[in-house]
Amino acid sequence: MSQIKAVRGTRDLLPPETELWNRVEATARRVFERYAFGEIRTPIFEDTQLFARGVGEETDIVSKEMYTWEDRPRAQSEKAQMLTLRPENTAGVVRAYIEHKLGDSGLLQKLYYIGPQFRRERPQKGRYRQFFQIGAEVIGPVSAGSESPLRDAEVLEMLATFLDELGVTGWTLELNSVGSAQDRPRYVEALRAALTDVAPTLCVDCQRRAVTNPLRVLDCKVLDDQDKINALPKIAEFLDEESRAHFAAVLAALDACGVRYTVNPRLVRGLDYYTRTTFEFTHGGLGAQNALLGGGRYDGLSEAIGGPKAPGIGFAIGADRLVLTLQAAASGEMAGALADVYVAPLGEARQAEALVLARELRRAGLRVELGEGSFRLKKSFEMGNKVARAIVLFGEDEAKSGVMTVKDFATGEQTKVARGDLAEFLRK
Ligand code: HAM
Repeated sequence: MSQIKAVRGTRDLLPPETELWNRVEATARRVFERYAFGEIRTPIFEDTQLFARGVGEETDIVSKEMYTWEDRPRAQSEKAQMLTLRPENTAGVVRAYIEHKLGDSGLLQKLYYIGPQFRRERPQKGRYRQFFQIGAEVIGPVSAGSESPLRDAEVLEMLATFLDELGVTGWTLELNSVGSAQDRPRYVEALRAALTDVAPTLCVDCQRRAVTNPLRVLDCKVLDDQDKINALPKIAEFLDEESRAHFAAVLAALDACGVRYTVNPRLVRGLDYYTRTTFEFTHGGLGAQNALLGGGRYDGLSEAIGGPKAPGIGFAIGADRLVLTLQAAASGEMAGALADVYVAPLGEARQAEALVLARELRRAGLRVELGEGSFRLKKSFEMGNKVARAIVLFGEDEAKSGVMTVKDFATGEQTKVARGDLAEFLRK
């Protein structure tokens, strides 16, 4: 029979790697909760229109990368609904904000999420078709201060703190402002005009982008094109007074708390909902897919999907890429954590009682591996040595006397310990 494999671009996460994933997620929860964020969990699939209108019909994500299908209608009279596996979570969070009228509280909503996203991209290192994001959004009515540059700076400072707490070093924060919804079309027009002369001298991809989506020319990585692209008009020249002041205030707040950044005038990002601040944290160790996380402000997104005015700012961390970075930094240290003890029943007649002993130790908070009564003593030692720091032999004598024999694998030392003292002994 032919073997069935995980679908291209998807993968299984196995221990010990999952321990690292859990550490990353636990750190995110801990840090985000200190900044008074609460968790939101939205559905994994949504009405396709949410992404078409939210993320933008012309973006690569919506035009090429979504997993979309027609849902079977319940009755013949019903129209089939188009559904999509979420390619990102911001649109879903804003939909939930609108649907549950969260803005009525008059407060800022600070929501974080952890979960899988789906994009039909070409798989490579750090790029998958099912990948995981850890993200957060701050959204609310203008009266709650949702437009304030302080929100942008606070989110960025939180990200810097999160990465520091995880022990990620060597990251760079790149920032830009893409201006208001009015600034951007003026810029795109100017870019298009400038590209009519320049595009024919650029790579073939850029020649195509110059026509279909001029902003994407700014993402070009082809070495020969860089000088020409850097000489194109910059979006900063097209910002209105308000956007300019907003960006200056974000930078000043970052300076005040010592978060280092570089302004990258070419950072326009691939989702249509962004206004004003956009940012990415990159990491040199990641290779071509060097964006560890990305985000920005989306002051018009709620209205674009039928909601009230509700400016917001947020980010999503590529958890797969973050784990890759941590693995590279800790290379070699990825052995799974050993259990505290291996409980070895000596003979099948001891199995049930050994389970009781293991239960006692586990309830005392120890990490316990339970052996197998049919194993010979030598095999129990060999197996135990692979998975635990120590072994407890549990035979007829031990069951009767209540005195256990413990062997420490590291020192080879063998000790007799009363059953009631065992947990305490092993903890040391
Ligand atoms: P994004 O830049 O599309 O933004 O994705 C954020 C991060 O997700 C990327 O920086 C990258 O680390 C990770 N990522 C994206 N695609 C893949 C993939 N195929 N494989 C592995 N990792 C990937 C957003 O998704 C926005 N919703 C962020 C946001 C939140 N903006 C405002 N609020």
